[in-house]
Amino acid sequence: MDEHQLFKTTLAATMNELELAFCLKDEQKTARESFLFKKDVFAVLTTGYGKSLIYQLAPLVAKRMGLSENPLVFVVSPLIALMEDQLKEAKKLGLSALQLGEPEQEQIRSGQCQIAFGSPESWLLKKKWRDMLANKVYRDNLIGIVVDEVHLIYKWGKTDKGDKAFRECFSKLGELRSIVKQGTPVLALTATADLHSKAIVKKQLHLENATQVIVSPNRTNIRLGLTRVSAYTLD
Ligand SMILES: Nc1ncnc2c1ncn2[C@@H]1O[C@H](COP(=O)(O)OP(=O)(O)OP(=O)(O)O)[C@@H](O)[C@H]1O
Ligand SMILES: [Mg+2]
Repeated sequence: MDEHQLFKTTLAATMNELELAFCLKDEQKTARESFLFKKDVFAVLTTGYGKSLIYQLAPLVAKRMGLSENPLVFVVSPLIALMEDQLKEAKKLGLSALQLGEPEQEQIRSGQCQIAFGSPESWLLKKKWRDMLANKVYRDNLIGIVVDEVHLIYKWGKTDKGDKAFRECFSKLGELRSIVKQGTPVLALTATADLHSKAIVKKQLHLENATQVIVSPNRTNIRLGLTRVSAYTLD
């Protein structure tokens, strides 16, 4: 069996075991497959599409495929409230997920957690987490970096007028690639990115060769029209 066939059967077996009440969409499959085979992915998929499932299933599928002893991903997330929601969702799927700064820090450091969530500032500015990403456990087991709400690189990490950016670390996330093992893929997720912000995100995260998975929010069955009417018609 070739590795892509193995991926398909393993994914199906993992989905069966989780007993989810839905099937994966093609974009979720494409993104997860690329990510697992160490290719960067830039996914622009509408709100509520199921972007989180792309990385939530990654450690489970990687484990079944024997890609590493204890596969894990880390997620860069902008807000504590969002991380808390995603922790709950991951735990519902039976994943061990933790947030940087929680009491179980040693568990994160020793790689005993499949998904670790943290802000750009924690991942980039706190020495203990930077060091952790470069340690042997993470070099051997990290299967990828996830950057959620990636459009914030443009919205919060940059400023047009030369003022200080709201959260400058967003524009430095590309540095993470130099800390982790070379070749570790990045999965960039967002629901909203116009052409300009997409170009900035790609440049900052070095996603020039990424697999792009895009579902446009444009609704072809909705149209805006403008008609001149007289005051008389309005009565
Ligand atoms: N293939 C699928 N079919 C139906 N529901 C799905 C599918 N994949 C995921 N879901 C469900 O969709 C819901 C929303 O998923 P998720 O939070 O990942 O969306 P999102 O794309 O990250 O949205 P947002 O842009 O708001 O962050 C979750 O409850 C998840 O279980
Ligand atoms: Mg999301």
